[in-house]
Amino acid sequence: MAIYYQEQEQLFTIHTEHTTYQMQVDRYGYLLHLYYGSSVEGSMNHLLTYEDRGFSGNPYEAEADRTYSLDVLPQEYPCQGTGDFRSPALVVKNADGTYSTNLKYLSHQIRDGKYGLPGLPAVYAGTEATGNGAQTLEIALKDEANGLVVTLLYGVLPELDIITRAVKLENRGNAGLELKKVQSACLDFLYGAYDWIQFYGRHAMERNFQRTAVQHGSQVIGSRRGTSSHQYNPFVILADREATEDFGSCYGMSFVYSGAFKAEVEKDQYDQIRLSMGLQDELFSWPLDPGAVFYGPEVILSFSSAGLGALSRNYHRVCRHHLCRGKYKTIPRPVLINNWEATYFDFNGEKLYQIAKQASELGVEMMVLDDGWFGKRDTDFSGLGDWQVNEAKLGGTLNSLVERINGLGMKFGIWVEPEMISEDSDLYRAHPDWAFAVPGRKPVRGRSQLVLDFSRKEVVDHIYEQISRVLDSARIEYLKWDMNRSITDVFSCAAAADGQGAVLYRYMLGVYDMLERLHQNYPELLIEGCSGGGGRFDAGMLYYTPQIWCSDNTDAIDRIRIQYGTSFGYPVSAVGSHVSAVPNHQNGRITPIGTRACVAMAGSFGYELDLSRITEKEKQEVKEQIQEFHRLWDVIHNGDYYRLTNPFDNQELAAWMFAKEDGAEALVQAVTLNAHGNSITHYIRLKGLDPKAVYREETTGRRYFGSGLMAGGIPVPQLGGEYQSWQLHLIREQEE
Ligand code: GLA
Repeated sequence: MAIYYQEQEQLFTIHTEHTTYQMQVDRYGYLLHLYYGSSVEGSMNHLLTYEDRGFSGNPYEAEADRTYSLDVLPQEYPCQGTGDFRSPALVVKNADGTYSTNLKYLSHQIRDGKYGLPGLPAVYAGTEATGNGAQTLEIALKDEANGLVVTLLYGVLPELDIITRAVKLENRGNAGLELKKVQSACLDFLYGAYDWIQFYGRHAMERNFQRTAVQHGSQVIGSRRGTSSHQYNPFVILADREATEDFGSCYGMSFVYSGAFKAEVEKDQYDQIRLSMGLQDELFSWPLDPGAVFYGPEVILSFSSAGLGALSRNYHRVCRHHLCRGKYKTIPRPVLINNWEATYFDFNGEKLYQIAKQASELGVEMMVLDDGWFGKRDTDFSGLGDWQVNEAKLGGTLNSLVERINGLGMKFGIWVEPEMISEDSDLYRAHPDWAFAVPGRKPVRGRSQLVLDFSRKEVVDHIYEQISRVLDSARIEYLKWDMNRSITDVFSCAAAADGQGAVLYRYMLGVYDMLERLHQNYPELLIEGCSGGGGRFDAGMLYYTPQIWCSDNTDAIDRIRIQYGTSFGYPVSAVGSHVSAVPNHQNGRITPIGTRACVAMAGSFGYELDLSRITEKEKQEVKEQIQEFHRLWDVIHNGDYYRLTNPFDNQELAAWMFAKEDGAEALVQAVTLNAHGNSITHYIRLKGLDPKAVYREETTGRRYFGSGLMAGGIPVPQLGGEYQSWQLHLIREQEE
């Protein structure tokens, strides 16, 4: 049992392996948040204080009691209109034009298993050992004045220290309501000095780590782009100011949603903190007619008292085992070669075949045909929306090319960008109203393309049919789903004026609908998500695409920082990562092929270059890299991931490692970021080993004690220059 209800005190307690979460219905029916943190026993009600606070109003039912104010009390789902002046989780516009909402406890339900959300991605309990004991708590709150019933959903995966939250809103009144702001999760903290960690970035430089003190006022990140975005990731951490990788308290919030979002942290007048996450409200307005129901997407919460590393590993586990799905969820994925950086649009069937042939000789297992194979698509100015194979360019049918590639013993995969339309396309000529454009205005173009109105079912149906025809025409075992611009000019011909604020959310539901159809109808297909690299790298996409192209930046050194930031909320198996050519196409940097492979192996590994253009010696290295990746796959993807350095602080050396949970095997990887004359020696302390065990290092045969490597560390050998890589593969010796 994970969820407990104590009737007399109306106290809800959720216990996970190491954490406790507690709420209570108070004397006026408000659902107060009492506690979230390390496991505790009993009621935490003693934390609440009541004082007469100036300018913090009192609910009517408190009568003469001025010490009761929702402006000060910690709440589970604060809304606009109750005298709480902090940032609300819910804002509703009533039929009479007012903005008041007042939610009181109505009922609750505890049941086994984890809830799901219609049309939305969500954590599932699954059947693995780690999923046992999952439970759901639903707490319904009601506004008696307007009939709105808000059901707070809590999903508990006790063994993973994971609690999910989502919200269901139902209009049980007689008049229409308008949802103006819906956060899915909100956490109130009574006190404490916290840092907020978030992952900002830009195209080709995603998920930089930023840690700042929470100050008075609000700090807000989010996306107005219709996607979760390169600019801010929908994963945030609130960490005790003292917390480090290995020590201290920290809380995570990960949004299981891929569209526009908002995450806020606010420090109020009494130094209390409110952290919340949900839909971007500026572009949002959802009419909720009598009888209608609305679901807000899920947020994954986790708490660790053992630092940021342990918090990340909680997220790695839940994403890998309870969010990702499909055939390739936990088995090795084919090492692929993608032709994009090798050819861009300039290819034909023979050139692709030659790239595949060379790659297959070196051990690559799948050829991925990127952009340019369909419609009229020799540049990025045309063709999107016309998902018919350009047989003239390929020199035959797609099937004939795929058969040739299969003949090399390789699988075949293909690129699509389903949500987009070029003005120069047959689709646009036939259905100009399928592209987002605001009447009377010229739309903003992005990469010279427009966005299809995926809020309309007929649009999704048409694109799905075209793409499934391609998938049915040949043995296609992988699909790269790209999305190459931010969304603007949101207007749907299918929606009324008061429904336009709902279009962006409906768009996302359309994207999920098509992804779900692909998942159901092509169960063998491996789908890789992508949005100009990592512009939609979020927990929502992971439900459909167990790996996501992490960044269009393939430079190993920049990737170290990008993958470092990504590792806080997402598992290594989700990180699409390729060895590409040098000088690197994004930043011109030259790094050895061994370093490029070392960094790319800390992900879902592949290549993206013309392998016939590298030296014979490098070809030999590629062969060995692929064999090595197969040998190390288990510890990399199934092992626990540890960050050993922070490449945003340490400009000299980057290091990370993987260790099997039982301590049987570990892999340490390091890259020099800088070079100096007469360089100092860098030491790293290993983590996650069995302290009592003796380990043998694979290449040198040298033996080490686990405790010695963890407490004393190990010197990184002088590698002779910048951008050199080093690896240590440790196998636990059998006890005699
Ligand atoms: C995006 C992707 C790239 C490539 C191109 C093709 O930028 O991130 O990997 O697929 O589109 O146009």
